[in-house]
Amino acid sequence: MDAAIQPGDDARDPVPTRRVHVITYGCQMNVHDTRRIVQVLRPLGFQETPDPALADLVLLNTCSVREKPERKVLSTLARLKPLKEARPGLVLGVCGCVGQQHGEALLERVPYLDLVFGTDNIADLPSLLASVEHGGRTSHTRRMTHDDYRFLEADPAVEAGPTAFLTITKGCDRACSYCIVPYVRGREVSKPPEQVLDEVRRFVASGVREVTLLGQNVNSYGRDRPVGCGFVGLLERVAATPGLLRLRFVTSHPADADARMMECFARLPVLASHLHLPLQSGSDRVLARMRRGYTISEYLQKVEMARAARPDIALSTDIIVGFPGETSEDFQATLKAVEAAQFDTMFSFKYSPRPHTAAARLPNDVPEAEKAARLRDLQALQDEITAARMLRLLGRDEEVLVEGPSRNDATRERTSGGRLEGPVQWMGRTSTNYLVHFPPPEGRPVSPGDLVVVHIEEVLAHCLRGTVRGNGEGRTRGSG
Ligand code: SAH
Ligand code: SF4
Ligand code: F3S
Repeated sequence: MDAAIQPGDDARDPVPTRRVHVITYGCQMNVHDTRRIVQVLRPLGFQETPDPALADLVLLNTCSVREKPERKVLSTLARLKPLKEARPGLVLGVCGCVGQQHGEALLERVPYLDLVFGTDNIADLPSLLASVEHGGRTSHTRRMTHDDYRFLEADPAVEAGPTAFLTITKGCDRACSYCIVPYVRGREVSKPPEQVLDEVRRFVASGVREVTLLGQNVNSYGRDRPVGCGFVGLLERVAATPGLLRLRFVTSHPADADARMMECFARLPVLASHLHLPLQSGSDRVLARMRRGYTISEYLQKVEMARAARPDIALSTDIIVGFPGETSEDFQATLKAVEAAQFDTMFSFKYSPRPHTAAARLPNDVPEAEKAARLRDLQALQDEITAARMLRLLGRDEEVLVEGPSRNDATRERTSGGRLEGPVQWMGRTSTNYLVHFPPPEGRPVSPGDLVVVHIEEVLAHCLRGTVRGNGEGRTRGSG
């Protein structure tokens, strides 16, 4: 298979006249949006550069889900200030969730900032740049509605490998009491299924082998407006795309992830064996105050449904410690739930009060030191569970989708008499989303996007190591 087209490799590119560097914080939605930003800049002659010092345009695609990433925006801007002073022609911009949240106020606060735009305004970037160039500093955070929201058509030429993210909804119609996302991303809008299918087909035609469908709550797909199918219908249609080797989706809300969705894991083999199901808390009292819409026993039933449909499924979750009013009994209930659910991976956070949320009106009454202690205990428990879950893979043959050279090896190509022979180590992921490193099999080339069977020989803290089965004659699929 051909390696996926790298930005900058495309012969159809206009001659590069300008360079852009985008710094991305936050969730997969922002990673996806950064690709769309690069895409809308291409016709203007922009190419990506990894070095902000070489860029004509530096953009910060930001996250405001907790206070820490929001603060990072100001410290990163301060770090970039000398570049702007040295080259006043450099355009410096903030977009994403902090851009949407603060808009114009950011321009007032940061005098060397040129541009702010919101989460719905990526398509406007060319005209916004023109306005910075001709008229000076510009802010634009206009929120789109169902009537005028248009999803940008994803262009596969800007994807950087065999895996790609694809939005199916924007915004969120739930109202978890701690969460700023509905404020910064707006109401939910579902992308028509025809557009999703067309994008998946074009991705696959350009070398993408694994697609992750993105939404804040994928299970509510199609509820905001009639698009012809719900989430399960969409999964069935996407799963039928020829050449697509793996399909993932994120995030499922436990209150909306129903039996029909869980059954998809039994019916659709292309669905990867991984489900992200954010728990948030194991205490019913806290869950109610978070307005999550489920109890812990309902949550654990969903876990059982997922495991009944796909026994080897890997589960990941998000947990918040120190929500207002969380007692040590509530926290013990969270530990108990984590023990019961046996997650493969967990993302855990200290509660951070956010403006424009219902919980911001509650006293932030769990002391910082107590939040830190709870987080430590929770992570220690999960580390044990993760280690045990990973150990079960030792000695097994796992199908791995090759993503590229192992990061540490990316610059260390093997050479033979000056001839490039590829990386020393490859990396890829199991269907259960574990990272696997393996040496190139003897006598058979491996390319990003191939599926290889790797015999797992070593379990490390955050990844697995192994060798390709059958000394390169193992079962493989792919387009090559
Ligand atoms: N739509 C997704 C992602 C939301 S943001 C979902 O429903 O899961 C990702 C995670 O950040 C959340 O799951 C939650 O665990 C965490 N989070 C959100 N707001 C937070 C806050 N105010 N303080 C701490 N963690 C928060
Ligand atoms: Fe936030 Fe809840 Fe929506 Fe997720 S489902 S984005 S946590 S409001
Ligand atoms: Fe952060 Fe915005 Fe995602 S707030 S978590 S980047 S939707």
